[in-house]
Amino acid sequence: MSWDKRYSAKHYVYGTDPNGFLVENFARLPKGKILCLAEGEGRNAVFLAQQGYHVTAVDSSAVGLAKAAKLAQDQGVDVEFIHMDLNEFDLGSNEWDGIVSIFAHVPEPVRQKLLPGIVAGLKPGGVFLQEAYIPKQLEYNTGGPPTVSLMYSKEILQSGLEGLTFERLQDLEREIDEGTRHSGMAAVVQVIAIK
Ligand SMILES: C[S@@+](CC[C@H](N)C(=O)[O-])C[C@H]1O[C@@H](n2cnc3c(N)ncnc32)[C@H](O)[C@@H]1O
Repeated sequence: MSWDKRYSAKHYVYGTDPNGFLVENFARLPKGKILCLAEGEGRNAVFLAQQGYHVTAVDSSAVGLAKAAKLAQDQGVDVEFIHMDLNEFDLGSNEWDGIVSIFAHVPEPVRQKLLPGIVAGLKPGGVFLQEAYIPKQLEYNTGGPPTVSLMYSKEILQSGLEGLTFERLQDLEREIDEGTRHSGMAAVVQVIAIK
């Protein structure tokens, strides 16, 4: 499955409303520069821009980002969209007040590089916020990647994000209703961590 193909649907496949975990917790993100990872059609980036953040969003799907740019325009907010594979993207050093990762299920080698990149990229005091599927999600069949290797876990996050202090690191089963592709009871890991 190619992401461009999935996003070529007319509708926003993950909806235009932001992720529920982000809505509940965005206030933990310090005001300033926020990086949204694998942001697809832009719902979370647009929401954060509406809250007054300076938002940069990266994704490897040009089709997804075109929809994201339209959503930002329709909502009258500015977001910097970067079309790039996260394997090539340099998160920099002490650059971001917050990094947001919502269902950013990237291939394992990309993830292995990305997690330490998040630690380096955050400013001291910067906050990382993530919600992602865990292997148990395969039992639900309500969205998410088809393979365990694309999933996150507390263990993966704990070791990959070494250097951050976890304010929250929990597995949870919750009802998700975020577009046609994420719909129903789901098994996720939620993270709020501070550098
Ligand atoms: C499940 S979607 C989540 C989209 C968005 N974060 C949301 O919650 O609506 C996963 C996203 O990961 C992106 N992606 C997958 N592999 C990637 C990579 N190597 N580099 C950048 N983006 C990638 C896809 O293009 C897709 O937009």
